Amino acid sequence: MRLARQYCVAAGRPTKYVVISRWQQFHGNDIGNAGLAGHTGRRRMLFPMFVNAPHIPAAYCYRCAFGATYPDCGLKCAHALETMIRQTGEENVAAFIAEPVVGAALACVPTPEGYFDIVRDICDRYQVLLIVDEVMSACGRVGEWFAMEHYGVSPDIIATSKGLTAGYTPLACTIASEDVWQTIEDTGTPYMAGHTLSENPVSCSGGVATLEYIEDHGLVANSREVGAYLLDRMRELLDLDIVGDVRGMGLMCGLEFVKDKATKEPFPPELKVCGLVFAEALDRGMITFPCTGCVDGVAGDMMLMSPPLITTRDQVDEMIAILKDSIEATQARLHDMATPAGRQVHY
Ligand SMILES: Cc1ncc(COP(=O)(O)O)c(C=O)c1O
Repeated sequence: MRLARQYCVAAGRPTKYVVISRWQQFHGNDIGNAGLAGHTGRRRMLFPMFVNAPHIPAAYCYRCAFGATYPDCGLKCAHALETMIRQTGEENVAAFIAEPVVGAALACVPTPEGYFDIVRDICDRYQVLLIVDEVMSACGRVGEWFAMEHYGVSPDIIATSKGLTAGYTPLACTIASEDVWQTIEDTGTPYMAGHTLSENPVSCSGGVATLEYIEDHGLVANSREVGAYLLDRMRELLDLDIVGDVRGMGLMCGLEFVKDKATKEPFPPELKVCGLVFAEALDRGMITFPCTGCVDGVAGDMMLMSPPLITTRDQVDEMIAILKDSIEATQARLHDMATPAGRQVHY
């Protein structure tokens, strides 16, 4: 956001400051990012404290906000950006931000093919920067160094972090296109975003070592290949009563739990279904990431998984076995809770 704003000022477009975002996305825990976020559970408490960004619907085919079906939908979710820019006033809009593969807010929803071509064209026509949040998806996680490589579209700014050091030391970076960077350089004022621990040498060494390891061991290819196998095996879980959707890209995948597969009705949030599956999986030795809010910001249970990039097919088999057992055990608990005797049991 800072870089986009500084660029607009440097480029002689000082009225541009608004960053348009999407619902069901997450961009970080600070209060500025809470305004961008569309993750209701993580922003509602902070609501009076942030500047709220305009939000367009997520590109989320399983529960399309337009009630349409891909690809016949014509990607209305992408065209919604143009409407929002016009409503907000193109002279005010600095940037649009999207997670190419939505993480915590939607449990791994990759963007449908064609979406970013439309968005890139709209951004270019209205002099709006395209920012992608690849904090979760970059560094091989989804089978390419960057998720945007799957879509063949170049953003203007990339925010990334986690995979840079595989989490061993804290490191985040902002990557800008030549145009964005050079325009700021030409003003003679450096990018104004220094932090206490910027360019921390230990973290940067950790980052270099991690990226070299990924490269030397072909882990991006491993993520792509073993990830494809993982998604295939995950699809078997669709046979289970409460698994409504399975999605994935590379070594990142997600499940969505529903009460009724035909109507996609979610479980009541107070049942904490993803918490139950999480606890069952943990008992069996596997850590998963329970997520909520995909339906209306509050209801909707999901499970996100992103195993290490060194994961093997055998380990995928182990994961699937644990997941299957954990979901079946949860189904049994839900069944017990629904019976008259079970209603007195509080989890
Ligand atoms: C997609 C995404 N963007 C950004 C962040 C960064 O959050 P923070 O700045 O709070 O570390 C996260 C953290 O989970 C994330 O998942």
